[in-house]
Amino acid sequence: APQSEDRKGPFGLVRDEIDCVTERLRRDIFTEIPALERAAEYFFQAGAEGKRLRSTMLLLMSSALAPAPPGIEFLTVDSSPPAEHPPSVRRRQQRIAEITELIHVASLLHDDVIDSAGTRRGKKSLNAVFGNKVAILAGDFLLARASVSLSALRNPEAIMLMSQSLEHLVAGEILQLTADAEEAASLDHYMRKTYCKTASLMANSCKSVAVLGGHSPTDCHLASEYGRHVGLAFQLVDDIMDFTSSADEMGKPAVNDLRSGLATAPTLYAAEEFPELLPLIQRRFKEEGDVEAAEEMVRRSRGLERAGELAAFHAADAAMCVESLSPAATAHAKEHRAALIDITHKVLNRKK
Ligand code: FPP
Ligand code: MG
Ligand code: MG
Repeated sequence: APQSEDRKGPFGLVRDEIDCVTERLRRDIFTEIPALERAAEYFFQAGAEGKRLRSTMLLLMSSALAPAPPGIEFLTVDSSPPAEHPPSVRRRQQRIAEITELIHVASLLHDDVIDSAGTRRGKKSLNAVFGNKVAILAGDFLLARASVSLSALRNPEAIMLMSQSLEHLVAGEILQLTADAEEAASLDHYMRKTYCKTASLMANSCKSVAVLGGHSPTDCHLASEYGRHVGLAFQLVDDIMDFTSSADEMGKPAVNDLRSGLATAPTLYAAEEFPELLPLIQRRFKEEGDVEAAEEMVRRSRGLERAGELAAFHAADAAMCVESLSPAATAHAKEHRAALIDITHKVLNRKK
């Protein structure tokens, strides 16, 4: 596609800067330990849109709040060591994008071990290639590197926010793993888990870039709420796609959640229409024919539709957060706000 096409839309706006963030990760982190080159493939070759959602959101948010557009000097790869304090606000915000991707990839590496997943985004998972021990340690290494980079920001609030999102990721996984029969069938429990495993990292990283930019408590809160609502919408759509997309499209097996014993929003809503679904949810679909029967009821119910409506509410709330930010300082900031709103639509309409 011609370059002008590539630059359109929310992803195009900050693409060059994301490329710098990505390049720094590849150079400094993934090549340091040979096995991590494989981990780098998660980061570089995922579907064009899903892949850089987090860092794109963060750089768009940085610009949406900035008093002036970033200079072109920020479109070079930051070659300073992770432990060195970046002198400019923009470099510190780029670090948050980097740290967020590190945490995200680390959580996927660990998740694939926990889920015994053989594939990730259409490729063999790291655990499938190198085994669980290497995959766990690779994830730990990325987390360790993220901690060094985070502490170098010398901003206690950002350190606290990002550390809390780490805590939430682990808590979300534990909530999912240890849910009793009642919790497994509870929409409330599902939403709490969804916040922890997906929305918290988006919320806290968005808030961190606002905090590093020195913005007002209200704007910092709105940034956080934007990330939270986008995260909830994103995960709801993910859980819908588990029913509606093919394995090829997603790069992982379809109807995987039921097979893994998990009732997500579409199934939980379906159970309100078909109470006979409840015992299946509570025994985690482990009897012969449970998965097929549950899938059938979900498809006959309004479950997928209602989950989509909930996702749309969260996407609209996210857009509202952007509109409520204090007035944009420049046309550049305004354009980046429009892109943040565009992201809320893209999250809803994505197909993978
Ligand atoms: C993917 O969910 C998993 C997560 C979003 C978070 C996993 C978190 C941990 C394993 C806790 C450890 C955290 C860190 C930071 C090391 P999924 O399994 O539902 O989705 P999938 O289909 O993408 O695998
Ligand atoms: Mg998984
Ligand atoms: Mg999992």
